[in-house]
Amino acid sequence: MDYLQIKGVDSINGTIKISGAKNASLPLIAMTILAKNSVHIKNLPAVADIKTLLKLLSNLGATCDFHDDKVIVNTSTLNQTKATYDIVKTMRASILVLGPILTRFGHCEVSLPGGCAIGQRPIDLHLKALEQMGAEITIQAGYVEAKAPNGLKGCEIIFDKITVTGTANIVMAAALAHGKTTIINAAREPEVVQLCEVLNNSGINIDGTGTAVLTIEGRAGKLMDINEFSVIPDRIEAGTYLCAGAITKSEITLTNVNTHHLGAVIAKLEEMGSSFSSTQDTITIHPSKIIKPVRVITQEYPAFPTDMQAQFMALATQAEGTSIIEERLFENRFMHVSELQRMGADISLNGNVATVNGRNKLSGADVMATDLRASSALVLAALVADGITNIHRIYHLDRGYDSLEKKLKNVGTDIQRLNE
Ligand code: EPZ
Repeated sequence: MDYLQIKGVDSINGTIKISGAKNASLPLIAMTILAKNSVHIKNLPAVADIKTLLKLLSNLGATCDFHDDKVIVNTSTLNQTKATYDIVKTMRASILVLGPILTRFGHCEVSLPGGCAIGQRPIDLHLKALEQMGAEITIQAGYVEAKAPNGLKGCEIIFDKITVTGTANIVMAAALAHGKTTIINAAREPEVVQLCEVLNNSGINIDGTGTAVLTIEGRAGKLMDINEFSVIPDRIEAGTYLCAGAITKSEITLTNVNTHHLGAVIAKLEEMGSSFSSTQDTITIHPSKIIKPVRVITQEYPAFPTDMQAQFMALATQAEGTSIIEERLFENRFMHVSELQRMGADISLNGNVATVNGRNKLSGADVMATDLRASSALVLAALVADGITNIHRIYHLDRGYDSLEKKLKNVGTDIQRLNE
């Protein structure tokens, strides 16, 4: 199994090109189920989750031609409506095919995704909304079985909690439903915004894009032609590398970014002492020599993203003072704490609140990745630790970071992928 070996450095410098957003790519690939034409998608990240979803679509009978950062997906040959456990268990975002398959074919079976390291990850809100749209849903032997033989009907849906993939699933289900669907308390993440924009450009009338109230005029089962589009830059990958600049007190530049999607992250890094210069699609971090402590509360977009919580915890271990990090979205998203503690970090937990006393020099150690963003926190810590850090189980990292070691090597990091 692969592991990453990283030697602490004094500083890094140079430029990193940001890849397309994993969490935008996944719903956009699922969306091709609604198309009658071959859909051309550009700027896809070369990460495991994308390959997994394309494999799922191929297993259902679609054709997926994936080269470099481009894919051509044709789902006109799709002849299966069952997403099996063997694939879904490796990537819970497979649930994103439920809405499109059900609204197009009138029936769908998707394996329950099960939880993951960061939490139980229920899908009750997805299912409740589909039932409101007329679907008959049962859970049989670990599978969601959904039926809507006469198609789904538009209606008003109020989400009890803001759910990113729940919003995406229902937007796609509504796209081919009969009549209008209104989603209240919709997610406003940039990844959901792009899905709405692409659908809007393909003949689906969606109002309220980017707001908490979306209305979607369904096409009553009529498939659409989806024009070629390019996936938005990955704001979490970008935020992670900005933290690499901050933690090593190095000036680095990121290209192919959308700084409008990074507002809360940039604001927090400014609070910790960094300043920034940016152009249309680049940003340079000018880090301070003293990292100030910070208070972080994770919430839905446009507030501070939970997917940046672990990275900021690694950064907070180097602050001059005590930081408070509160995780409000997931019940178990502190798996990186014990690994950071093994490197000498002074962190204490009280429920969903972590208190991080900075100033401790970290020391290299053997540590274990537990989930995608926890892995990136360990990489950041390893950059400033004394000596060598070996990060094991980096298949977690490979799910969401495109060519991480190549990108970090290009800015002067002593990093290599080895096999144990
Ligand atoms: C998406 O997950 C992202 N994944 C996650 O990124 C991200 O952390 C999360 O949104 C929050 O921003 C993808 O987009 C593929 P939610 P999702 O539904 O949609 C509860 C990463 O690192 N909830 O917005 O699964 C849920 O338990 C990943 O890239 C229900 O209770 O998250 C959580 O507490 C990790 N019932 C909250 O809502 C439901 O039916 C937000 O979850 C659905 C969700």
